Amino acid sequence: MSDKTLLLIKPNAIMHKHAGEIISMVESQAFVLRDIKILKFTQELAASFYLEHKGKEFYDRLLAFMCSGPTIALLLEKHDAVSSLRELVGDTDPAKRKTETIRYRFAEGITENAVHASDSPEHAKREIRLIFGYNPT
Ligand code: CMP
Repeated sequence: MSDKTLLLIKPNAIMHKHAGEIISMVESQAFVLRDIKILKFTQELAASFYLEHKGKEFYDRLLAFMCSGPTIALLLEKHDAVSSLRELVGDTDPAKRKTETIRYRFAEGITENAVHASDSPEHAKREIRLIFGYNPT
């Protein structure tokens, strides 16, 4: 079944002008671009988006990083979109990243990791609603 997911191109990737290459990598894996938005996370939106990480050691650093510059959000559609995009994005742990992934190429650390991809269909729905303001059909 074709379904939808969310990709965020984070402030470090935009600052280093990697957004175009990241979008090309996504398109080359047959994702269809359904919506796109450039935004700057506020503290409030970042806190809501990353609610599940509240209290973790890296939480304040993560919020400061996400609010440090513009982010590009992409609403993407493909068969098995969530797992397919997670595969293309690569692992959170730098040591486990495969060479052909977005994070292997563009991440600068465990927090400044260039991109975010929703980790389940339920989270994709919630995150798309938070960022784009509507429920994906
Ligand atoms: P993301 O996929 O956006 O989801 C949560 C984010 O928290 C993650 O990418 C990283 O930016 C950050 N993160 C996750 N784990 C750690 C960690 N152990 N130390 C620092 N930052 C982390």
